[in-house]
Amino acid sequence: MEHYERHCPPAPRRLNCLIPLPAGYLVPIRWPRSRDEVWRANLPHTHLASEKSAQGWMVENGDKISFPGVGTRFHPGAHKYIVHLAQMLEFPYGKLNNQGNIRNVLDIGCGVATFGAYLLDLDIIAMSIAPNDVHENQIQFALERGIPSTLGVLATRRLPYPSRSFELAHCSRCRIDWLQRGGLLLLEVDRLLRPGGYFVYSSPEAYAPDPLNRKIWRQMSNLARRMCWRIASRKDQTVIWVKPLANWCYMKRLPGALPPMCGHGDDPDAAWNVLMKACITPYSKRVNKFKGSELLPWPQRLTAPPPRLEEIGISSKNFSEDSEIWHSRVVLYWKLMKTEIQKDSFRNVMDMNANLGGFAASLRKKDVWVMNVVPFMESGKLKIIYDRGLIGTIHNWCESFSTYPRTYDLLHAWLLFSEMVNEGCSLEDLLIEMDRIMRPHGYAIIRDKASVVNYIKKLLPALRWDDWSSEMKPKNDALSSGDDERVLIVRKKLWDQALQPL
Ligand SMILES: C[S@@+](CC[C@H](N)C(=O)[O-])C[C@H]1O[C@@H](n2cnc3c(N)ncnc32)[C@H](O)[C@@H]1O
Repeated sequence: MEHYERHCPPAPRRLNCLIPLPAGYLVPIRWPRSRDEVWRANLPHTHLASEKSAQGWMVENGDKISFPGVGTRFHPGAHKYIVHLAQMLEFPYGKLNNQGNIRNVLDIGCGVATFGAYLLDLDIIAMSIAPNDVHENQIQFALERGIPSTLGVLATRRLPYPSRSFELAHCSRCRIDWLQRGGLLLLEVDRLLRPGGYFVYSSPEAYAPDPLNRKIWRQMSNLARRMCWRIASRKDQTVIWVKPLANWCYMKRLPGALPPMCGHGDDPDAAWNVLMKACITPYSKRVNKFKGSELLPWPQRLTAPPPRLEEIGISSKNFSEDSEIWHSRVVLYWKLMKTEIQKDSFRNVMDMNANLGGFAASLRKKDVWVMNVVPFMESGKLKIIYDRGLIGTIHNWCESFSTYPRTYDLLHAWLLFSEMVNEGCSLEDLLIEMDRIMRPHGYAIIRDKASVVNYIKKLLPALRWDDWSSEMKPKNDALSSGDDERVLIVRKKLWDQALQPL
């Protein structure tokens, strides 16, 4: 699967052009309708629809493609499947969110992210990942639907998320060979699970009676046992394992037991271009002492100072101040856009330099989801974002982002351009990449030094980001870079290359 991982072309092969629209492109259907149907013209790729219509992933329906809410392994519907999982775990009221204690989910091999779509009804946010493999543009469909998702594959490198980020990981028929390379891929899932986290596995290896699947099942159970995972429930076509809450089981392992424990030199949160390691990540002293993550249930965890703050040297007071500042900044942004936007103008939002997730936290009451991107030099901050019950990824903005064209309605770039200048990367490349990611009629909020904003303003007509704009000098606050900061909000045109040649 290595060839499905990120591979950036060398500089001479990079394209620096604006991507035209597919013929007949329409402004996307808005959320929540988009969960169930999208415009066919926006994703003119019918391969997946014809391949997967028998499994009910998606169906061609005139000028639309509709999503009946089922998956390869959940024929009766995602909703019923999710209730079934909650009942297997004996969670109250048959609700998988377990009263706010299950919030962050990783869906590995998500298809068109239907599982994640239905989890949203329970206030559970899933990072749904899949590669561009034989299922081609599955993630493009997921994003067009407005479901949190990104290109991602379990292959050789760690997923770009810190350790202990998800309460539950899910694989329904994701067709991964979990036994390969000393259990390397299952050990990566183990790294990402919180103490007491669940791995939900709905795949023939867990139930099919034929000798090959029985053999795989025995080997997988054995590997899971050696990783100190315990079966929490096994029923019908699904098995759910649970990871220990503290180090006691690891400490009881015999010398030489495999897989080995990771050495002290391994930083389990280093996840940008880091090879996976076939070892078990032990818990910190603090987790071991408190037997868990010490997280409050959602939504209290969004605003309470996360326990891992001390790992990145930020005080609770600074965290609370950061949240307050972002709240007032977001109020200002929405005021500036008031005359232009509707309640449903935004669905897929990206904070390109997310810091502690304050921008996303301030959007909680809006019907949006936010991809919080933490530049790789500051990757330690991403665990705070996950501990708040938000999702995000590490990224190097000198490279392109793992997404398809026209997938986000709103991009927020706070002091990103001035950081890029310091990194020696091209501002034009970043603007072109933002244009690729942004939907037509999408918005960008750029908050940066006046010199940077003035430079960007000159490029707006060439980018066709001159549909509408607003600029102001904001009041200074504790996060300001200085007196010369500006807020620039722009809207991208819906332009057709045939009508407006470059
Ligand atoms: C049969 S589909 C199942 C999709 C969905 N889980 C469902 O039940 O409808 C298999 C999925 O696993 C993904 N997949 C296969 N190998 C993978 C890997 N190594 N890492 C991540 N996803 C993978 C495929 O791209 C596809 O999305």
